Amino acid sequence: MQSIILSHVTDFDGWRSAARGLALRGIPPQDVVWSVEEASDLFAQAEPAAPVSGAFSVPRALVEMAETAIQARDPERFALLYALIWRAHRGEKHIVEDAADPLVARVVRLAQAVRRDTHKMRAFLRFREVHAESTVRYVGWFEPDHYIVEANAPFFVRRFATMTWSILTPYRSAHWDGETLRLAAGARREEVPDDDRLEAYWRAYFASIFNPARLKIAAMTSEMPKKYWRNLPEAAAIPELVRHARERTEAMVERPVVSSERAARVRPQPAQAAPGGLQALAAEASGCRLCGLYKHATQTVFGEGPFDARLMLVGEQPGDQEDLAGRPFVGPAGQMLDRVLAEAGVPRATVYVTNAVKHFKFEPRGKRRIHATPDASEIELCRFWLDQEREIIKPVVTVLLGASAARAVLGRPVTISRERGRRIALPGGVAMVTVHPSFLLRLPDESSRAREYAAMVTDLRTAYAWLG
Ligand code: URA
Repeated sequence: MQSIILSHVTDFDGWRSAARGLALRGIPPQDVVWSVEEASDLFAQAEPAAPVSGAFSVPRALVEMAETAIQARDPERFALLYALIWRAHRGEKHIVEDAADPLVARVVRLAQAVRRDTHKMRAFLRFREVHAESTVRYVGWFEPDHYIVEANAPFFVRRFATMTWSILTPYRSAHWDGETLRLAAGARREEVPDDDRLEAYWRAYFASIFNPARLKIAAMTSEMPKKYWRNLPEAAAIPELVRHARERTEAMVERPVVSSERAARVRPQPAQAAPGGLQALAAEASGCRLCGLYKHATQTVFGEGPFDARLMLVGEQPGDQEDLAGRPFVGPAGQMLDRVLAEAGVPRATVYVTNAVKHFKFEPRGKRRIHATPDASEIELCRFWLDQEREIIKPVVTVLLGASAARAVLGRPVTISRERGRRIALPGGVAMVTVHPSFLLRLPDESSRAREYAAMVTDLRTAYAWLG
């Protein structure tokens, strides 16, 4: 019998290297006992196993599933995953595709439970402000069902990069000081102070995103289980919102909508197929009330393109025609973008195209709606959607079309002329800043238009070449 002791509850690297060594030495799953060291030094590396040589390759999909399922709070997870690896190594290369296989079905259920828990953590974690001397720290308490803190901490780093925060859970805490992420032991609920200046903000936010027409008490309580309500200041607002739901629904029904026939004239095209995560996100974003822009816009304009796109283009916000069509870059700026992409040799169908802000911001002028630049707070709030799109698509190269897109992705003000064309490192990829296609449309004379057009083509060609 082999005993494998991993260094912590989500020690994926330790598990993977042990699994590899065991499979190569021909040790079957029933001869292995897995456990986790009760170490005081939380992230000490486990003793590396003696290297074993030999050909070992398992499908990427299996590795990805294992990376997720290993976060499940199930003591058998290491053994179940090794049993999968064992079978894949011994010839069942496509085992993860066999949903009817009881072992696969069980691991899939673990991975799904982890994904649901991850979604809840991202949606329901609330930070409270803690003042110590002259500094402010944000502290959030969450009770995950699974071991999801380690894998999710980088998401919170990206989302709240400029804040100093701590996420406390009963089994693990994560601390970000603006530069370094540190994982430490778990904490107790009492360590999160009650004094909460953000409470009013969260209440107002929840009231503003609450869509009375979609009120389903049963769904609300299962999506937002009571266990999380304790930590959600806005939950206090629910009874009041429910009481007024009917009046608010009637008011919404009376709001004028643009006819779908008019919208379809703009550029009817089938939406790109997108897997569940992206579709669910787009559906969620369609009810977005994070800022006030939804009030006057026709609809949320979500990104589109292939789920496996390696190149992402980020624009500023939908324009008049995009607002009507519900699709990004279909109006004049979109046509200019299409020309630039074609000239640069970039097939638009391979690119994921989205915007920093998902609602059209405009000023009415007679019958016309004139574009208005979104402000920093609108960009910041809308990052909620963009970050998640980027999380799902994981682009290798992201081209930022103009200052709003650059601000949204880089999290700081950007002067285009200063940073244009440079390779800017991002977690998991690179970004390039370039001009927005509508900049070309606004240029007054033919010669500057031709010059700027050529420069933008060069930028897009370079970005495409970065894909390798
Ligand atoms: N401008 C943008 O930034 N995005 C669009 O989708 C259209 C115009």
